[in-house]
Amino acid sequence: MQKLSIHGGVPLSGEVRVAGAKNAALPILAAALLTAEPVRLTNVPELNDVTTMIGLLERMGARARRSPHGVELDAGAVTDPFAPYDLVKTMRASILALGPLTARFGEARVSLPGGCAIGERPVDLHIKGLAAMGAEIAIEAGYIHAKARRLKGARIFMDSVTVTGTENLMMAASLADGETVLENAAREPEVVDLARCLIAMGARIRGHGTDVISIEGVERLRGVEHAVMPDRIEAGTFLAAAAATRGTVTLTQAPVEALDAVLEKLREAGASIDVDRDSIRLRMGARPRSVSLRTAPYPGFPTDMQAQFIALNTVAEGTAFVTETIFENRFMHVQELRRLGARIEIEGNTALVHGAEKLAGATVMATDLRASASLVIAALMAEGETVIERIYHLDRGYERIESRLGQLGARIARLS
Ligand code: UD1
Repeated sequence: MQKLSIHGGVPLSGEVRVAGAKNAALPILAAALLTAEPVRLTNVPELNDVTTMIGLLERMGARARRSPHGVELDAGAVTDPFAPYDLVKTMRASILALGPLTARFGEARVSLPGGCAIGERPVDLHIKGLAAMGAEIAIEAGYIHAKARRLKGARIFMDSVTVTGTENLMMAASLADGETVLENAAREPEVVDLARCLIAMGARIRGHGTDVISIEGVERLRGVEHAVMPDRIEAGTFLAAAAATRGTVTLTQAPVEALDAVLEKLREAGASIDVDRDSIRLRMGARPRSVSLRTAPYPGFPTDMQAQFIALNTVAEGTAFVTETIFENRFMHVQELRRLGARIEIEGNTALVHGAEKLAGATVMATDLRASASLVIAALMAEGETVIERIYHLDRGYERIESRLGQLGARIARLS
């Protein structure tokens, strides 16, 4: 199994281009199921999760042609609206096939995602929403079986804010009969990117980016060419790494507006940040100050950046309180960070991070995607060598991480 070896202590310096957003690419790939015409996507990140989603579409009968950072999908010949357990269990976002399949084919069989390293993560709101649109839903042998001659528009209030739930229902509603209103909808920029792509396919959507989205269903959607937005979490991770190593890094192709909450916290930590239209330059001259934060749905501080900020706080001056409100059990990086000398206590859903003077290299294990990013950041600061095991988690969300960090001066290598 592949590992990463990092010798810490080098301030990151240089320029890096932000890749396309994983969490926008995945729903947009699923949206290709809504039309029989070709969908051409650019700025698609080269990640394992993207390969899994394309594999899932191919398994259903769609044709896919990949090019560097691009894919052309043709779901004209989809015959089997089925998402099997062996694919869904490796990637929860496979649930995004449920809405489009039910809407276009009148039927879908999608495996329940099952347990997940970062908490319960149920899909009840996806299912309730489709049922409200008239789908008959049965849960049989671990599969969600949805059926509907044609979905009907409905008013749907979602108990809690769910990103993929909002996306699934927005896609389903695009082909439903009549108007659907999603209340308490997710406002994440990736939801907005999906909405823009659907609108270019002929969907009639209003209110994306707010918590009430209205969708007037149409009979059919057409093909599209769409460039996936840049990845705000990847961008935020590079910035946190730059701040942690007291470096100077410029990001190009950065989703500047989508990063407000993260930039605010980096400034609070003492970084000086210059923002241009689509570039961000961060410089950190001194030891970071501790920053307390609380995760929340967009525009709040993203849960997908929580682990990286815990890593930053491990060497900061002072004590930080980091509260996770979206997922239970999302502190698995903490015990691995402790192996590097971090001083962190957990009290309920809050981590108390006492800044240490320094960290020291050790062997650690990645437990999930963002946990692995926090280990990389900690390793970049630690004295000596850190070996990170199970880096397939990292490869799900970060493109060629070792060569891109290497470009910024990090001493990093992949060991097989
Ligand atoms: C998406 C992101 C993930 C990010 C998360 C929160 C993708 C592919 N993944 O995940 O990176 O960490 O948003 O920003 O975009 N919930 C329910 N019932 C449901 C659905 C969700 O109770 O039917 C709960 C979840 O357990 C969780 C909260 O709602 O506590 C938010 O989850 P959700 O926004 O759905 O996360 P994902 O869409 O899976």
